[in-house]
Amino acid sequence: MRVHVADHPLIAHKLTYLRDKRTDTPTFRRLADELVTLLAYEATREVRVTPFDIETPVGPTSGIHLATPKPLVVPILRAGLGMLDGMMRMLPTAEVGFVGMVRNEKTLEATTYANRLPDDLANRQCYVLDPMLATGGTLAAAVHYLVDRGADDITAITLLCAPEGIALLEEKVADVQPPIRLVTGAVDERLNDQGYIVPGLGDAGDRLYGVV
Ligand code: URA
Repeated sequence: MRVHVADHPLIAHKLTYLRDKRTDTPTFRRLADELVTLLAYEATREVRVTPFDIETPVGPTSGIHLATPKPLVVPILRAGLGMLDGMMRMLPTAEVGFVGMVRNEKTLEATTYANRLPDDLANRQCYVLDPMLATGGTLAAAVHYLVDRGADDITAITLLCAPEGIALLEEKVADVQPPIRLVTGAVDERLNDQGYIVPGLGDAGDRLYGVV
């Protein structure tokens, strides 16, 4: 697994306000959206492109556009939805697949409760969105879901990670070739006994959408 921690003052600034418990839900959503747009810049560094020729008003030249099949963006419900718009702003022609996962708050095991994905993901570049890499179980399960459908190029984008989650994800996807990429805004100190990232930002889904 290749890990890229985006080290940029704008990301650190926005993350600080995102973490702050005084930040209200509308501001939290906007900050998450802006952060993803910045992280998407790093995460799409290896997006596949095809050369093509154009004419400017001054003369012919060649450029590139996104290759076909188009990338697939996969937000993990529920909190990953808060990252979708920011990602689609950068990849407007991408397709979107959905995976619903919930973790058991006692065992911290992830189970799938919904999915809407193409059956065949051969040759698709996939970008998996989940704001919090905590235990690593949810992302690992999502990656295997995509690999089972033939995906061979997977990038996970998270806002925050716990070191324990990175280690577990690395172990659980060690057999995935080529190795997945992980792009994140920051690596925090640790996980607490309830599986929350410390200092983290609390429950990302609740802060985005309220406690339901
Ligand atoms: N999920 C969250 O929303 N927050 C955490 O800190 C860990 C998992």
